[in-house]
Amino acid sequence: MGKDVIIACDFDSKQKTLAFLDKFTGRKPFVKIGMELFYAEGPSIVKEIKARGHKIFLDLKLHDIPNTVKKSMAVLSRLDVDMTNLHAGGTVRMMQAAIEGLTREDGSRPLLIAVTQLTSTDEESMRNDLWIEKPIDEVVMHYAENAKIAGLDGVVCSPLEAGKVHGRCGDGFLTVTPGVRFADGDVGDQKRVMTPAEAKRIGSDYIVVGRPITAAEDPVLAYERCVKEFID
Ligand code: C5P
Repeated sequence: MGKDVIIACDFDSKQKTLAFLDKFTGRKPFVKIGMELFYAEGPSIVKEIKARGHKIFLDLKLHDIPNTVKKSMAVLSRLDVDMTNLHAGGTVRMMQAAIEGLTREDGSRPLLIAVTQLTSTDEESMRNDLWIEKPIDEVVMHYAENAKIAGLDGVVCSPLEAGKVHGRCGDGFLTVTPGVRFADGDVGDQKRVMTPAEAKRIGSDYIVVGRPITAAEDPVLAYERCVKEFID
């Protein structure tokens, strides 16, 4: 799989999601299905979007005991998603169990990406709530290395961290980066943002783009602009 633009389909119903995807009559975008849509509609929404020819990143961020994660990943693997994720905070053993569960009988499996520390967690809450004393960027890199050791394919990170992750974990270790905005667009609630062109320059492998596409007047045009800036 090469570089791609993943659209975050942060809708709360199947109806809204399919109405949005109906607009894409040419190139079928890679889409991210998160907890909101998955919990609202269940596995059938994944099957339906897959049957329409889209690649799917199922963003459910699993974090539980290794055995539960292994068995849950086996279920997600049967849904034939292309990418899914978990929390690296679940330990190397949990991530290894996830890989085992995700791997199909023929040896194939969806890409597995780790969340290191959520961007909503800052150093202060990490120290005060979680009692993690190290600087947050060291924690993020350590969790990325743990993900690599466990055999995962990459991490979700800010585009600003993508270069550093590649430096520590190798160019083949994937960086999936949200927080993307057009130079002339609204930043919204994202704090550290980059344009698709900058994300390309810095070496992001996949950009995850929500509102700049979903809330655009012409979502197809906004998607094509992203593709042009990031891939072409
Ligand atoms: O609308 P927007 O482009 O900000 O959407 C970004 C998507 O990426 C959302 O689905 C959001 O939950 C997700 N995400 C993020 N920051 C992270 C991890 C995931 O924005 N650190």
